[in-house]
Amino acid sequence: MIPVSKRASTIEYAIRDVVVPATKLESEGHEIIKLNIGDPIAYPGLPTPPHMVEAYRTGLAEGHNGYSPSYGLAQLRNAIAMDESSKGWDCSIDDVYVCHGVTEALQIIFAATLEEGTKVLAPGPHYPPYMAYPQMYGASTIEYALKSDDGWAIDLDDIESKMDSDVRLLVVINPNNPTGNVAGADEIDQLLAIAKKWPNCMIVADEIYDGLDFSGRQVSVASRSSDVPVFSLNGVSKVYYAPGWRIGYLAIHDPTNVMVDVRDGIERLLRSRLCASTPAQLGYLAGLSEDRSWMVEYTSKVRDRRQLCLERISEIEGIEVEAPGGAFYLFARLTDEIWATNDKDFVLKLLHEEHVLVVHGSGFSPEMGAGHIRIVFLADERTLNTAFDRIESFLQRHRSAKK
Ligand SMILES: Cc1ncc(COP(=O)(O)O)c(C=O)c1O
Repeated sequence: MIPVSKRASTIEYAIRDVVVPATKLESEGHEIIKLNIGDPIAYPGLPTPPHMVEAYRTGLAEGHNGYSPSYGLAQLRNAIAMDESSKGWDCSIDDVYVCHGVTEALQIIFAATLEEGTKVLAPGPHYPPYMAYPQMYGASTIEYALKSDDGWAIDLDDIESKMDSDVRLLVVINPNNPTGNVAGADEIDQLLAIAKKWPNCMIVADEIYDGLDFSGRQVSVASRSSDVPVFSLNGVSKVYYAPGWRIGYLAIHDPTNVMVDVRDGIERLLRSRLCASTPAQLGYLAGLSEDRSWMVEYTSKVRDRRQLCLERISEIEGIEVEAPGGAFYLFARLTDEIWATNDKDFVLKLLHEEHVLVVHGSGFSPEMGAGHIRIVFLADERTLNTAFDRIESFLQRHRSAKK
């Protein structure tokens, strides 16, 4: 057998890993309710807005099928710069780099900033690539706590205690996946004050869910920083409902000009991977530059589905949740101690017995996510109700089995 690299053989992505047994059940003829994947297109009533699809289609028809400049189409970079500036910081077109989604932006950032022995400080729990990718560069990810009993608020003391001169990147996901917590200006200011004490530390501000804020508290991290360098990350996947287009960006906020070399490294990496999809960039451009009033109806649908889930969970014994301030996830706690360290077992049993697929919390943090499940609350009302009926009977059955 030809050996696989350790890098590849140890990588895990909980959200998609649980799809493997689900697909097997489907191939045996079972219908699965999938509440596992954060893809709004997978759920009814939230299609990519038609004017964006049309712009993509027109791009194809008009022959925009060649490579784009490596940092992105100028019109799109400009529209992104204007959008970021509208969030309260001075973003110029040269600060914007278009990527194949935030996921590629992360790989570029990690490749440009991490070395053997460096660290990434990321929230626990977190979106899995923050744990998986840094290791490829010899770095390690250390988790700082989100407070599970306080709306998953950032534990600033924990950050302070874990900062040191090896920390290159301090990650803020706002709103957070998987917990949905939203950090407001106060918390961001305190976090920046901590980071400021460490001159080699930059902030990664993953704001891909910023347009889905039910708390009204969400702020752009770059808009609050007058000294600490920030990578702002965003894209078309969540708030513009087109994750399959694979378009996102990183925007550099470098108020004290300390990122000249890092920026050069990022540009080199971007040139070496050619560019992001050209017609998909045109679709995103239409989203950013044309009317956005459609978002009101979309957001209100998401809000209603969130409310339904919160109400259902409040009535079911064995599961509880901190109401999420944003995004479209519930990170629910399984209160029966039999699941405290067995959340993956819960997910697999629920899948096989009730044909409902959610993701185990430990996939988002072995330590801080254990005993939880993540539920995507984007399905329609009837599907959500059916899913919760099944979760309820599953919990009842397993509770009584224990007695
Ligand atoms: C916090 C967070 N960042 C980034 C992504 C992926 O973004 P993209 O589709 O732009 O790669 C996700 C997807 O679930 C996410 O939850």
